[in-house]
Amino acid sequence: MGAYEDVFRASVEDREGFWLRAAEALDWHKAPTRALDDSNPPFYRWFPDGEINVAHNALDRHVEAGRGEQAALIYDSPVTDTKRTYTYAQLRDEVATFAGVLRELGVGPGDRVVIYMPMVPEAAIAMLACARLGAVHSVVFGGFAAKELAVRIDDAAPKVVVSASCGIEGKRVIEYKPLLDKALELSAHKPDKQVILQRPQAEAAMGDNDVDWADAVGKASPADPVPVKSTDPLYVLYTSGTTGKPKGVVRDGGGYATALAWSMPNVYDVSAGQTIFTASDVGWVVGHSYIVYAPLLAGATTVLYEGKPVGTPDAGQFWRVMSEYGVRSMFTAPTAFRALKKEDPNGEYARKYDLSGLKYLFLAGERLDPETYRWASELLDIPVIDHWWQTETGWPIVANPAGIELLEIKPGSPTRPLPGWDIQILDTDGRPVPAGEDGAIVAKLPLPPGAFPTLWNDDERFVQSYMSAFEGYYLTGDGGRIDSDGYVFVMGRTDDVINVAGHRLSTGGMEEVLASHPDVAECAVIGVADQMKGQIPRGFVVLKAGVDASAEGYEDKLRAELVQMVRDQVGAVASLKEVAVVPALPKTRSGKILRKTMRGIADGADEPVPSTIESVDVLEALRPVLRKD
Ligand code: COA
Ligand code: AMP
Repeated sequence: MGAYEDVFRASVEDREGFWLRAAEALDWHKAPTRALDDSNPPFYRWFPDGEINVAHNALDRHVEAGRGEQAALIYDSPVTDTKRTYTYAQLRDEVATFAGVLRELGVGPGDRVVIYMPMVPEAAIAMLACARLGAVHSVVFGGFAAKELAVRIDDAAPKVVVSASCGIEGKRVIEYKPLLDKALELSAHKPDKQVILQRPQAEAAMGDNDVDWADAVGKASPADPVPVKSTDPLYVLYTSGTTGKPKGVVRDGGGYATALAWSMPNVYDVSAGQTIFTASDVGWVVGHSYIVYAPLLAGATTVLYEGKPVGTPDAGQFWRVMSEYGVRSMFTAPTAFRALKKEDPNGEYARKYDLSGLKYLFLAGERLDPETYRWASELLDIPVIDHWWQTETGWPIVANPAGIELLEIKPGSPTRPLPGWDIQILDTDGRPVPAGEDGAIVAKLPLPPGAFPTLWNDDERFVQSYMSAFEGYYLTGDGGRIDSDGYVFVMGRTDDVINVAGHRLSTGGMEEVLASHPDVAECAVIGVADQMKGQIPRGFVVLKAGVDASAEGYEDKLRAELVQMVRDQVGAVASLKEVAVVPALPKTRSGKILRKTMRGIADGADEPVPSTIESVDVLEALRPVLRKD
C-alpha cells in the first residue's frame, strides 16, 4: 500500500489520534484532551476543551522559535510599482500594533470587524489583528458593490469596519470609500468607527466616524494575543447560495488552524522557510487559507500579489514573481492560466525567467479543463495539481497529496479524498451509486477540522441547506462521480451557484436585481460556458403586460439598464453583460423555470424536452435565442 493509503487509513481507523497528533503542530494555551465532540449532530465541534490564539501561532510562535528575521509576507504590486517584505518579527509587530488600534476602538473577543480592502498587506494585518484579539473578522471582496457590502454589514453587525481609500484594477483606480459610505447609508446596522487606509492613488474624504489608519497606528500601543476557545469563531466569510442572501460561513480557530497546518506540508509540500504564491484575493476563501493563514501557520513565506495575471503590465508577472522569490508552490484558479494562454500561447514570457525552484502548480476554484491542464503541464514541466474545495470546507476535500505521495494524475479529476473526508456519490433517493456513475457528491458526517461548524446566526439554514437532503451527510452542491480507482470527478454545481472567473456567484441574487426593474414581469439567469471565465451569466427577461416595447431602441435601453443595475447592486465581478428580452420562459407544470434545460441548450447540448414541461412551444421558441443562432 502506498503512503497516501496509509495516511488515509490512519485518519479513518483512529480519527481522534490522527487529529490530536496534527494539533500538536500548534501552540495551545490549553492543549485539547479530545479531538471531536459529536454529542450534537450535525453540529460537530473540534478540540472542544482546547484554547488557542491563531495569530500567536501564525506569528509570535515563529519569532520565538528563531524565525524572526525570515520573510513572512512579501507584498508585490506591479500596479503601484511597490515591493515590500515583512519579516516574521515585523509582521508580528505591525499586527500587534493594529490590534492595539482595534482594542482602543472597543473591539474585544467575539466582536466582529468587517474588512473591505484591496490586495494590500494591511488587509492581512487587519485579519491577523482581529485574530490576535479573539475578534471575528469578515472580509468582503472588493469587487462587490455597496449593496452586497451593506447586506454583509447588517448580518455581521461589526463594531468597526476597516477599509482603504482605493483599490487598483488593472490601470483603473477604484475608489472604495464612496462604496463604503453608500453601504453604510443602506445598512441598518451602523458600526462605531471606520478605519481607513489612505492610499496615494486616491485620498478619501474622511467623515466624523472615520479614523485614519496611519494616525491611529502612530498612537497605538501593541496588544498581546488573547487565548480563546478552539471552537470560538475566527472569521465569518460570506459566500453565494441559491438566493440573494449570502451565507455567512463560520470558521472556528482550533480546527481550522490544525487542518491548515496539516495541509501545508502534506498537500502543498511547503514547509517552514519555503515560499508559496497564491494568486487570488483575500476576499475569497483561497485567500484566507492560502495567502494568509496556512503559509504563516507553517512558518513559510507568502506572496501577496496586487495585480492580474495579464495586463499589469504583461503576461510575465506570475513568472517574475516566482523566479524573484524562489516560489516552490504556486496556487491560482484555472481561469488565470486561460488568461495567460490567450495572451502568450507559446509561453514566451515564462521562458524569460528562471523557474527552476517551482515544484508544483495547484489549481482550484472551478473545473480544470483538460486543455488548460495540458498547456500548463507542457509549459512548466512540473505536476499540475487540480484540487477541489469550497468556502464551506476551508481547505481541500479532494487533492493529490503531493507532500505525502504524488499519485498518478488523471486529467479532469482532482484525484482522491484527503484524510477526514469520506466522499460518496448518492442518487436522488440517497442510495450510493456504482463506481463511475454520476450523482450528488456528499461527505459523510462528521466533517474534518477546518470545515464550517455552522452558518453565522443561522443554525437552521445550515441544517436546511446542507445537512437535511441526506441525513448524516453534507450536501456539497456539486455533482460528479468516483471511478473504480477512487478518483473523484467534479462535474459542476447542481444548484443555482455559478463560477465566473473562479468567483462564486448566485444567479438567484442576479435574478432578484433584474426582477426589481419596473418593466420586468419575470426573469431567469443561467450560467453558460465561457472559454475564458469558465462560466458567465446570461439573463432572460419577460416584460410586464402593458409595457410598450415598440419605441425605437427600447430593448437596447432596457438591456443597458439591467446590466448596470447588476453592476451597481452585485458588483462588476458578476460580469453580467448579456440580457435577452423573451416572450416567455419555459416552465414545468408546477411553475418551476427549467434553468438546467436552458443552460444545456445554451452550452450546445442536445437537451431533450423534459416530460414535466408546461409548454413545449415556449422552449422551442427559446432554443435559437439560447443557442444564439
Ligand atoms: N475591486 C473592484 N473591481 C473588481 C475587483 C476588485 N477587487 N475584482 C474584479 N473587479 C472588476 C474588474 O475590474 C472587472 O470590471 P470590468 O467589467 O469593468 O472590466 C470585473 O470586476 C470582472 O472582473 P474579473 O472577473 O476578475 O475579470 P477580468 O477580465 O478583470 O480578469 C482574470 C479576468 C481571469 C484575469 C481574473 O479574473 C483573474 O485573475 N482571476 C484569477 C483567479 C482568482 O482570483 N480567483 C479567485 C478564487 S481562487
Ligand atoms: P468557492 O466556495 O468560491 O471556493 O467555490 C466552490 C465551488 O467551486 C465548488 O462547489 C465547485 O463547484 C467549484 N470548484 C472548486 N474547485 C473545483 C475543482 N477543482 N474542480 C471543479 N470544481 C471546483
